Amino acid sequence: MLFPSSLFIAALVGATQAQTPPGFKPQVTTKLNVIFNSTSVTKAGELLTKTATATAPNLALTNVNSTSDTYLFIMIDLDVPGAGSNSTRRTLLHAMTTGFKTTTQKLNGTATLLSTTQKGPAAYFGPGPPSTDTIAHRYVQLLFKQPANLNIPATMFAETTSRLNFNIEAFMKTMGLAAPVAGNFFTVDGRNGTQTGSGGRGNSTVVPFTGAAGRVSEGSSVVGLIGVLGAMVLLV
Ligand SMILES: *[C@@H]1O[C@H](CO)[C@@H](O)[C@H](O)[C@H]1NC(C)=O
Ligand SMILES: *[C@@H]1O[C@H](CO)[C@@H](O)[C@H](O)[C@H]1NC(C)=O
Ligand SMILES: *[C@@H]1O[C@H](CO)[C@@H](O)[C@H](O)[C@H]1NC(C)=O
Ligand SMILES: *[C@@H]1O[C@H](CO)[C@@H](O)[C@H](O)[C@H]1NC(C)=O
Ligand SMILES: *[C@@H]1O[C@H](CO)[C@@H](O)[C@H](O)[C@H]1NC(C)=O
Ligand SMILES: *[C@@H]1O[C@H](CO)[C@@H](O)[C@H](O)[C@H]1NC(C)=O
Repeated sequence: MLFPSSLFIAALVGATQAQTPPGFKPQVTTKLNVIFNSTSVTKAGELLTKTATATAPNLALTNVNSTSDTYLFIMIDLDVPGAGSNSTRRTLLHAMTTGFKTTTQKLNGTATLLSTTQKGPAAYFGPGPPSTDTIAHRYVQLLFKQPANLNIPATMFAETTSRLNFNIEAFMKTMGLAAPVAGNFFTVDGRNGTQTGSGGRGNSTVVPFTGAAGRVSEGSSVVGLIGVLGAMVLLV
């Protein structure tokens, strides 16, 4: 009964090694190696700190088929608190980076390190869940094969508010993306406060997200925009 039992093992491995959170679509079972300067996501869902995840991670992939492939990286917060009294949580696009190619560098002799010269179309925002929140936020990383004709309008994420309520399935459909080739996720808990906070900012500087979003759409000054970005970094 070699065949059925190996099938069973394959199913078991698939079921126990999901790299995306339960219920999240698209579900991914192939691990994307997500490596920050001082730590990496060794186990999907691992709790990391804001400090450790403040700048964009390096990525590495084990299931490379062709060195000519190009990849697109996406990171999404699934747990942004709702606007005002709305208790439904929202998503926020933390990063969308195009142009990843394989390098000749291997991690641990297996995973191929990827690199890109691109910073967008949506530059990396480090996690910053509010210190007043009641849960740790889940940050999902997905890697897609980038279609040769991919065309993401420069205006698509020009406004910070356009990253809110990011719908990955709709985006995949619009852009003609196939299922992700790899994924991973980690969590960051804002309640740890200054121990893990970005720059030790406390409650007093937390700007309500909706207010910040409102200011963006009013098309405010550069100082206003920096304020908004600061608030985003602190809250999501
Ligand atoms: C990670 O390293 C880069 C390059 O040295 C540096 O610019 C960045 O600030 C570091 N990030 C963190 C969170 O330490
Ligand atoms: C490599 O090919 C396999 C089989 O078609 C596929 O499942 C996997 O996603 C591919 N890997 C990449 C990085 O494209
Ligand atoms: C609450 O937020 C969700 C997610 O953004 C949205 O779909 C829903 O329409 C909102 N409900 C109200 C009453 O605004
Ligand atoms: C590389 O291997 C070491 C030791 O086995 C392990 O601690 C580390 O997490 C691995 N790194 C990656 C990126 O898988
Ligand atoms: C951060 O918060 C989590 C969940 O409350 C807790 O398990 C962890 O020990 C805290 N870490 C630090 C450094 O306080
Ligand atoms: C943050 O604000 C909450 C609610 O206002 C309060 O209960 C908590 O003590 C504050 N924490 C700090 C570190 O000031």
